[in-house]
Amino acid sequence: MKITKAVIPAAGFGTRILPSTKSIPKEMFPVVDKPTIHYIVEEAVKSGITDILIITNRGKEAIENYFDVSPELERLLLKTGKEKILEEVSSISKMANIYFVRQKETKGLGHAISRAKSFVGSEPFAVLSGDDIIKSKTPVCAQLISAYEEFGKCVVAAKEMPKEEIHKYGSLKVENIKDNFFMCTDMVEKPQPSQVLSLYSILGRYILLPEIFDILEKTLPGAGGEIQLTDALKVISHKEGVIMVDFEGKRYDMGNKFGAMQAAVEFALEHPEIKEDFKNYLKNIEL
Ligand code: G1P
Repeated sequence: MKITKAVIPAAGFGTRILPSTKSIPKEMFPVVDKPTIHYIVEEAVKSGITDILIITNRGKEAIENYFDVSPELERLLLKTGKEKILEEVSSISKMANIYFVRQKETKGLGHAISRAKSFVGSEPFAVLSGDDIIKSKTPVCAQLISAYEEFGKCVVAAKEMPKEEIHKYGSLKVENIKDNFFMCTDMVEKPQPSQVLSLYSILGRYILLPEIFDILEKTLPGAGGEIQLTDALKVISHKEGVIMVDFEGKRYDMGNKFGAMQAAVEFALEHPEIKEDFKNYLKNIEL
């Protein structure tokens, strides 16, 4: 079955980038001239996704406004002859069919995904974390969809992370199948040193089958007292295995200050309008 639906969890508080996130959702932080969530929706659309459910929470209205039309602004841009930016602004509301649901309680990633049950129905679907921008030649979501089409199982995107950082991620027990495809038969969320299964860590992209919803309903709070998606996926990995793709691409963790700054600098260095000026600026600042 062709994957056309995606879920973007965007309900977290963004505590690592306070105080900005008191009033600006972290998914709306700009990377040069577009908010984080724009890059994520763009990745989904380029991967063939037509319908997207964004899971939000109180205080995230700016995300809904961003994907809506803005008649006053569009009229002003037309009147002042700013056609190029008008085209860009008005294309945002047409990127995909975008729906919203509120998580209501912040009880973890697994709980957030369970809110997508009626949107998803009986189809396999993609999950793209609202925290992670991934720059790649082929969109990572498309890389995962290809793996799903080949193996017909749930899929996670992963990379090897430094040993000192593995406690922040979901660690995977894997065996290579071929090329960058691995079979994962166990996983653990936020492992203690003795629980680390490998340095391969889940990084913000998944293809899930609808059976995940029944498992999530029975999943008890895990790491951090939250209902963890990893704990539900672990059940599937034990039963039939989950495919892990060691993806091509570079991930920026937009949920922390350093990741957000890396994205800002690297995207600015490629932005057609400012790249030359920005490069010169960087060369000339005293460090
Ligand atoms: C979540 C997932 C974790 C994954 C991480 C990075 O954790 O639960 O398995 O490794 O995202 O994508 P969080 O960063 O929300 O604590």
